[in-house]
Amino acid sequence: MTQTGRIYSRIAGTGSYLPEKVLTNDDLAKMVDTSDEWIRSRTGIRERHIAAAGQTSGDLGYEAALRAMEAAGVTAAELDMIVVGTTTPDLVFPSTACLVQAKLGAEGCAAMDVNAACSGFVFALSVADKFIRCGDAKTVLVIGTETLSRIVDWTERTTCVLFGDGAGAAVLKADAETGILSTHLHADGSKNDLLWNPVGVSAGFRSDEPNGGAKINMKGNDVFKYAVKALDGVVDETLAANGLDKRDLDWLIPHQANLRIIEATAKRLEMSMDQVIVTVDKHGNTSSGSVPLALDAAIRSGRVQRGQLLLLEAFGGGFTWGSALLRY
Ligand code: UT7
Repeated sequence: MTQTGRIYSRIAGTGSYLPEKVLTNDDLAKMVDTSDEWIRSRTGIRERHIAAAGQTSGDLGYEAALRAMEAAGVTAAELDMIVVGTTTPDLVFPSTACLVQAKLGAEGCAAMDVNAACSGFVFALSVADKFIRCGDAKTVLVIGTETLSRIVDWTERTTCVLFGDGAGAAVLKADAETGILSTHLHADGSKNDLLWNPVGVSAGFRSDEPNGGAKINMKGNDVFKYAVKALDGVVDETLAANGLDKRDLDWLIPHQANLRIIEATAKRLEMSMDQVIVTVDKHGNTSSGSVPLALDAAIRSGRVQRGQLLLLEAFGGGFTWGSALLRY
């Protein structure tokens, strides 16, 4: 899947949005048997944001999209496609992408969701990149957005301390010079029971359980080990596919789930943590929202500069994992 043609997908602008309400580790310590010390030392998380009642993934994604479109100088009428990575869609249908499209007033362009759990943004970015590379689209809005707080069991300390709500977005534009060099996507569905939500429309809800039985179940240790190995593999694969060395990378922009997983990938790449964008402390694991939240923070703070080489990666339920290498 290495870029060979003349058309690249270049990131023209990014944006992000975190809901107003902040839940700190100390707040959580009043709800379950945990502590700020445990959460910080095991995950790197200090606080997370929680969507207001009635505020949906689409609403968060819309706010992120507005900021990305403003940064890119792109209007709704210019969009050829909207791709939304989410595992917490507003509704079963229409897709969250269609709901965001309506709010933006971008009727007419293609709009669809991609569910790859925490890898949602990287998968959505890859789909968008393919449409641009083949010439079918020139301007694509890619969003990663989640309201995981709606499927967290707030009495379960092993999971509730990890997740948060948030969204990020990027506008991709066709460019003859530079942009996404390659994307690499993988899944291992045989591990579907290590990180999952056990209910749904077709499998059925459980009327006797809170929230219809919807909740994040995770075997944390198993996920941790598989994630580190899978991410090691995909970063090696990405560099090899482009004939590049790890020393060529300027920035690692990883999925923000656990600081220890991020540090393991940085170590594999022999990158100093000064070259790694870390935002997990501020918003916890926002699944599809996490990579674009980190990307936007990196760009808006001026750390990431035009011309630099960026490696994005993510891992999530499914299992799914993937990467994108791009010249910003
Ligand atoms: O985005 C998708 C990918 N998801 C991930 O990447 C998550 C991957 N997994 C992880 O990040 C880590 O496995 C966790 C952060 C979930 C857990 O960290 P850990 O170092 O693997 O801890 P553990 O599960 O081995 O638990 C260690 C101890 C246990 O107590 P005992 O059995 O040693 O007495 C747990 O019961 O910590 C206890 N524990 C807690 N203590 C205080 C578990 N959760 C908590 C908590 N507060 N919130």
